[in-house]
Amino acid sequence: MAENIFKRIPAEKEVFRDERVLMPDYLPEVMPHREKQIEEIVFGVRGAAEGKKTENMLLLGPSGTGKTSTVKYVLKQLQEYSQKVIPIYINCWESSTRHSILNNIASTLGEFVPRRGVSTDEITERIGEVLKKEKKTPIVALDEVDRLFASQYEEEKVLYDLARAKELFSVDFGVVAITNNSEFLAKLDQRIRSSLVNKQIVFKQYSPDELKDILKSRAKLAFYPESLSEEVIPLCAARAAKKNGDARLAINLLWKAGKIAERRNAGKVAVEDVRKAFEEVGEEDERAGKLEGREKEIYELVKERGEITSSELYKKFNSETDRSIRNYIDKLCSLGFITAESEGGDIKKGKTRIIKIKK
Ligand SMILES: Nc1ncnc2c1ncn2[C@@H]1O[C@H](COP(=O)(O)OP(=O)(O)O)[C@@H](O)[C@H]1O
Ligand SMILES: [Mg+2]
Repeated sequence: MAENIFKRIPAEKEVFRDERVLMPDYLPEVMPHREKQIEEIVFGVRGAAEGKKTENMLLLGPSGTGKTSTVKYVLKQLQEYSQKVIPIYINCWESSTRHSILNNIASTLGEFVPRRGVSTDEITERIGEVLKKEKKTPIVALDEVDRLFASQYEEEKVLYDLARAKELFSVDFGVVAITNNSEFLAKLDQRIRSSLVNKQIVFKQYSPDELKDILKSRAKLAFYPESLSEEVIPLCAARAAKKNGDARLAINLLWKAGKIAERRNAGKVAVEDVRKAFEEVGEEDERAGKLEGREKEIYELVKERGEITSSELYKKFNSETDRSIRNYIDKLCSLGFITAESEGGDIKKGKTRIIKIKK
């Protein structure tokens, strides 16, 4: 279908056709240079679509190498492809206890479980019941799985639950564990390791050329044609390649350069805009480097997500009171790191606020 004419013809001096494509939570529809990893994951989980056993796997690689997006991409396609599977994506930062992970699985299966007062055994039982009826195989992706080892309460036991799913739920689970911690495997008990990690899929840091391809595929959607000078993408790619081949940084630089060009009403992103974007990111890093403890954790989390609500933060850091988390948020706001606006736009106490990195 021909592209809509309103998208094709830019308003005067606009550079972005669709800025959202450069936001951290955007899920790309093409993932250059991850074809092999995608194929391997597909091989591992396709058995489930035919009612067979899946291969459990561990995805390993540094931050910004596309692990999360690749998994979400494959799970989405799997869902479209087969009625026999139930893909479940869980970020272990958000669901960081055995109880909340099982709860999350149960609720994806359509079981309503109240947040309190239901024992883990009971949740397990309910999951088993649904699965027996449905005759489907759940594929559970556990992103940032190393987080489970951070607690003193042995939350990682949920890995044992999933590894022996057949006993526990009478149905096999497929497990895709994801981590950027290369020491993760060593933390796993030998027995668990052999059933949970049938294969490892490595995500390497991107090279400058690979980052260029990634940026090009995004820029096509995000910018009007002609609104990027030729050097912009190679410059962003080179900088991110030096910083651990992090695609997240590359995309962020490109977006920032676009915003700076827009601010000077240029209609085209130039090399000087990219240089300013480098500076801004550098200053941010330097300032953020001085943050400590909970403030730093909150800031990093907002940065990674792009956007998060205050109530999500309360839930995540529920070892502290809402009040103290609110204080951290307010402090980060006053230091100019983040913005926090309530959904209606005005800042009122007690309302859920949407927290973003300050631009
Ligand atoms: N091969 C790729 N093609 C397109 N975008 C990518 C690719 N790899 C990473 N990205 C983008 O880079 C950012 C970071 O990727 P992500 O999957 O979150 O990495 P990780 O989970 O390894 O830290 C996301 O915005 C993602 O869309
Ligand atoms: Mg990730």
